[in-house]
Amino acid sequence: MYDLLKKLLFRFDPEQVHECVMAGLERTAHSNLALELLAQICAVHEPRHAVKLWNLEFPNPVGLAAGFDKNARALPAWPALGFGFVEMGSVTALAQSGNPTPRLFRLPQDRAIINRMGFNNDGADQIAARLEQLFNTRGTLSVPLGINLGKSKLTPLELAPMDYLSSLDKLWDYGDYFVINVSSPNTPNLRQLQDKDKLEVLLGAVMDFANRQKVSKPVLLKVAPDLSFDQLNDVLVLLEQYQLSGIVATNTTLSREGLQNKMDEAGGLSGEPLKHRSVTFLAHLQKELNGRLPIISVGGISSGDDVQQRLDMGASLVQVYTGWIYQGPMMMKNIMRDLR
Ligand SMILES: Cc1cc2nc3c(=O)[nH]c(=O)nc-3n(C[C@H](O)[C@H](O)[C@H](O)COP(=O)(O)O)c2cc1C
Repeated sequence: MYDLLKKLLFRFDPEQVHECVMAGLERTAHSNLALELLAQICAVHEPRHAVKLWNLEFPNPVGLAAGFDKNARALPAWPALGFGFVEMGSVTALAQSGNPTPRLFRLPQDRAIINRMGFNNDGADQIAARLEQLFNTRGTLSVPLGINLGKSKLTPLELAPMDYLSSLDKLWDYGDYFVINVSSPNTPNLRQLQDKDKLEVLLGAVMDFANRQKVSKPVLLKVAPDLSFDQLNDVLVLLEQYQLSGIVATNTTLSREGLQNKMDEAGGLSGEPLKHRSVTFLAHLQKELNGRLPIISVGGISSGDDVQQRLDMGASLVQVYTGWIYQGPMMMKNIMRDLR
């Protein structure tokens, strides 16, 4: 049935469809009955899928990747759709509207997306207020909530640590884990924060903040698939030195390798063509880390076999974004059926 609906949806502008879906899910998230119904149709609860990590209970290892629910508009809907955890954001310290539209492009023959959204989000203050209200009225989510943080476009790179700290400070009470995102390709120079010297300053500041909080929470780093393995190894040294809790690999890629249809749009590529690079990254990470740091693998996952492969390769958890656009709301049920 989704194939039919998709034919219709794909006739419209991708960002408008995204907005429509978010509006629908937001409404659903306000009704217990609607959430219950959605969960009956889309979610599977089997104790054998549960994962315990960082003292958190994940009902299953497949989460929604950052970028879909940037503003925490529909959080209760994601567990009802079967996700085992949700990563909201990226949130920046300052509210910002992102890049000019159009900035989101489907590549249906490649089962891919190119986006150059540019961290459009309501900003840490407003999002903290929304989370406060959500938790007061509905309680915390039934699955772990990750909060992914980016840098405000207006903040110069030298002041990046301050920008991330400001968001962390406002949002610390609400997330179960945090991701420092230095890997989106659509904020000018952001990826330079992956350079050894700059990353050391940033991670030092972030972990100093995290270690001073009353309640300790996992902090992870999200990396770009376009790093060389030498660069990635430098990052790993710092992750261990500053005792981060894990790594999210990977964000979207600037490479156009694996694309069957030429697409000139600038931005980050996700979905099927990213799969190979993401799997190669996971293999390298597993070899280097040897289980010392949990890995969240993301990029090109669209089936139970994809999830099983990442888990077998050593990922603790996985995430999905583009696959869900192409597979639709029954995706999680299908994945769970196929998981060993
Ligand atoms: C439209 C769009 C927006 C995204 N926004 C963010 C973001 O704000 N922060 C982030 O860390 N990743 C963002 N991502 C990257 C995804 O979280 C994920 O890392 C990437 O898409 C690879 O996974 P996939 O192949 O399953 O889509 C975005 C991806 C897409 C397609």
